[in-house]
Amino acid sequence: MEADVHHDAPIVLEGVHKRFGDLVVLDGIDLAFPRGQTTAVIGPSGTGKSVLLKHIVGLIQPDSGTVRVFGTDMARAPVKDVYAVRRRVGMLFQDGALFDSLSVGENIAFPLARHRPDMDARARRERVEEVLEMVELPGLYDRSVAALSGGQRKRVGLARAIVDQPEVVLFDEPNSGLDPLTSAAIDALIVDMKRRLGITFVVISHDIVGTVNVADRIAMLWQGKVIAEGTTAEVVRSPHEVVRRFLGRNLVLPPSTPPAAAPADDAFMAQLPRIG
Ligand SMILES: Nc1ncnc2c1ncn2[C@@H]1O[C@H](COP(=O)(O)OP(=O)(O)O)[C@@H](O)[C@H]1O
Ligand SMILES: [Mg+2]
Repeated sequence: MEADVHHDAPIVLEGVHKRFGDLVVLDGIDLAFPRGQTTAVIGPSGTGKSVLLKHIVGLIQPDSGTVRVFGTDMARAPVKDVYAVRRRVGMLFQDGALFDSLSVGENIAFPLARHRPDMDARARRERVEEVLEMVELPGLYDRSVAALSGGQRKRVGLARAIVDQPEVVLFDEPNSGLDPLTSAAIDALIVDMKRRLGITFVVISHDIVGTVNVADRIAMLWQGKVIAEGTTAEVVRSPHEVVRRFLGRNLVLPPSTPPAAAPADDAFMAQLPRIG
């Protein structure tokens, strides 16, 4: 890992091991996510991408190794320090995790209500209206979340993730369940927010279409290890057989093809050469 990239990285994983029973999910992960850049973590379904993301916010602790976010060891620091870090990190879970009983605006206001109880209701609403414009959903404050399309749900999730001005945003599967055009619009938002707001993005994806367009850097997970890591241009040129097959399989999709469903990855995994 290059020293210039590692230096000043807000998120650094060192020697992270994690198993669930007999299943080794992370088998010695060393990875730094540089400030102000978008890093995509890619790999087929079930390779541990979401598990890795949950380590970053301390929802899962490593069996060994360290996860430092803004210098805080997320597994060993006092709870108040872990919470202080989480306030600086916006997170979108894979399913959006919106509260269907609340309106769009109430969903987005949630982190403000929790973290800034002193903020008055009008200022809170103004901030929510502002981020609704950023995600191109102006005027939808009072809309029922249950009435939203898949793409709109992702936008609301993104609005909620950025409403409290995080330095880092973790986005699990921004393109899952979306048609290619809607996917491309979400990708464009990520690129725009990185540029305009200087946010450090970590984007998780099992689908490389679009990832190449949003990511400055790519790390590929496979069998518990990072098998390729670097700038997008470097990883796309990786000679590693598994990386080439993963990228090749995904990049040859014609634009009209819907995003691959998760089960397709089982077929993909079965085709791969055995490793290790
Ligand atoms: N809390 C958990 N307990 C047991 N197994 C888990 C848990 N979370 C994830 N796993 C397993 O870890 C593996 C990696 O999961 P995940 O990180 O969700 O994969 P993906 O790369 O698709 O995001 C899977 O086999 C999953 O079943
Ligand atoms: Mg996942």
